[in-house]
Amino acid sequence: MYRSHNCGELRSSHIGQEVTLSGWVQISRDLGGLTFVDLRDRYGITQVVFNMDDNATLCEQARKLGREFVIRVTGTVNERSNKNANRPTGDIEIIASSLEILNASKVPPFIIEEETDGGDDIRMAYRYLDIRRPNVQKNLIFRSQLAIQSRKYLSDLGFIEVETPVLIKSTPEGARDFVVPSRMNPGEFYALPQSPQTFKQILMVAGMDKYFQIVKCFRDEDLRADRQPEFTQIDCEMSFVTQEDILNTFEGLTKSVFQELKGIDLGDFPRMSYDEAMERYGSDKPDLRFDMEFIEITDRAKGYDFPVFDNSEYTVAIVAKGAADQFSNKDIKKLTEWMQRPQVGAKGLVNIKYTAEGVKSSVGKFYSDDVLNEWKTDVFSAEDGDMVLILTGEKEKTQKQMNVLRLEMADRLDLIKAGDFKPLWVVDFPLLEWDEESERFHAMHHPFTSPKAEDMDRMMNGDHETMKSLRADAYDLVINGSEIGGGSIRIHDRELQSKNFDLLGFSKEEAEEQFGFLMGAFEYGAPPHGGIAFGFDRLCAVMNGQSSIRDFIAFPKNSSGRDVMINSPSAIAKEQLVELSIDLDIKEKHEK
Ligand code: AMO
Repeated sequence: MYRSHNCGELRSSHIGQEVTLSGWVQISRDLGGLTFVDLRDRYGITQVVFNMDDNATLCEQARKLGREFVIRVTGTVNERSNKNANRPTGDIEIIASSLEILNASKVPPFIIEEETDGGDDIRMAYRYLDIRRPNVQKNLIFRSQLAIQSRKYLSDLGFIEVETPVLIKSTPEGARDFVVPSRMNPGEFYALPQSPQTFKQILMVAGMDKYFQIVKCFRDEDLRADRQPEFTQIDCEMSFVTQEDILNTFEGLTKSVFQELKGIDLGDFPRMSYDEAMERYGSDKPDLRFDMEFIEITDRAKGYDFPVFDNSEYTVAIVAKGAADQFSNKDIKKLTEWMQRPQVGAKGLVNIKYTAEGVKSSVGKFYSDDVLNEWKTDVFSAEDGDMVLILTGEKEKTQKQMNVLRLEMADRLDLIKAGDFKPLWVVDFPLLEWDEESERFHAMHHPFTSPKAEDMDRMMNGDHETMKSLRADAYDLVINGSEIGGGSIRIHDRELQSKNFDLLGFSKEEAEEQFGFLMGAFEYGAPPHGGIAFGFDRLCAVMNGQSSIRDFIAFPKNSSGRDVMINSPSAIAKEQLVELSIDLDIKEKHEK
């Protein structure tokens, strides 16, 4: 028997019992006559005591234990004289009567405790040691519970989990595909799915009615804290539904997992159109945990001989409550420089400070105190102590810049309360997005998204400009400023789908070659259908107040897309390349 109990289980009620524990040596402290060992496993830590007077040989053996040795200990549960209130097992200790080393360990390259001294790279290279840390284990356990709870909720509603293939053909979700060469079909490649989108729609044509899958998706895109090249979705599709049905079902799922796993009642989710979100927050994923809504002052600011505002398409302000005192001129200069970085691209930053001593502004030369004081109440609803920050320029760009500033100010002013959750549905997304550079439309969600019923005629018959104003039955679930999920009602009519491909710049042949199977299926009685996919890793992170999804993935990739533990991606043998018919000279040919 390796163990009678685990290392997190024993309490005062076990005092006097003989027990056997197995686990890892977290630390061994030699205090002369006594050696204390903290024994750890997934369930907790138990203190084991070796007493020189009771058993000198055993104590000598214990003294030699190093960090992360795997041992088995038998002993008696004893009441501790100095209890450790921070540990669930802190009332007891084990007085050891036997010790066996099951496996020795090299000295680990970093401390395996909640707080570690290991940097990111080293922890990822030794991820098996990193995962021994209780906080990492806690995240993985949470992930498992979230999957189980989601499966239960959806299964209770009649959803069927269906596995879709991983070796497929490219699905255009906006990112690059990862591809896999086919040995049996020389010169041809599979693509790994960016999502199971077309398959879940085919399953609706096939009459499955309610599908879900907790599924790996692959996207070859630049990585960020909330993006991994392989990530997991809770992917769903339903037949004979309206947008309303889908929002209700998945609001239900979200509320259920928050209630069951966090004990939090989220209440009903507000809804906001895409246009409103952009006007009020400059973002289609606004963080509603704090205010600082946009106040547009384009017209109001014109006519004071300040050319920058006079000639601007869009001028917008936010009110940073109580910030007037906190930001010196030097701080504002730094903030302005920060906003002028190429990543943000603001041309400048105007400020107005309202204080008990009066009003001060970087544009005070053009706007008299009287004007600024009138704005204080009429426009900004500001009070003494508040600071107003203003950006101006081309509308879309300025909205994005102000969104960046709004989030930065919330951070600097510490406006976000830990444990606060603010969900939101963003609805009525544009169907198409015009890309100036490539001079073509892109699907805002994906090419299978349906325009709103009232826009269908305009889509079939409208001119180029009309296409820019089409709205889709597409929606995103946003929590705390993070896009948790996205979906849409789909086109289920071959002709409409054809038209959409046409608008997106696919020739008839390209559309047929890539999506003939889907449009073909639409000719055999496709039901009206729609769906959504949640980013499972993101949901894990947001529910735990974290911004990085890597902490919730057992074996994540680093920022260069590498798994540093197994050292992948890596070169493959020449023979393998030959077998896969991969042209070894391809690089040279490309260069020519
Ligand atoms: P979408 O592309 O919006 O929709 O993806 C759905 C959700 O998946 C998450 N997500 C990611 N998470 C981690 N790393 C990534 N690289 C990454 N990319 C996306 C986000 C996002 O909201 N097939 C459609 C869904 C549908 O229409 O039903 C789709 O994949 O949380």
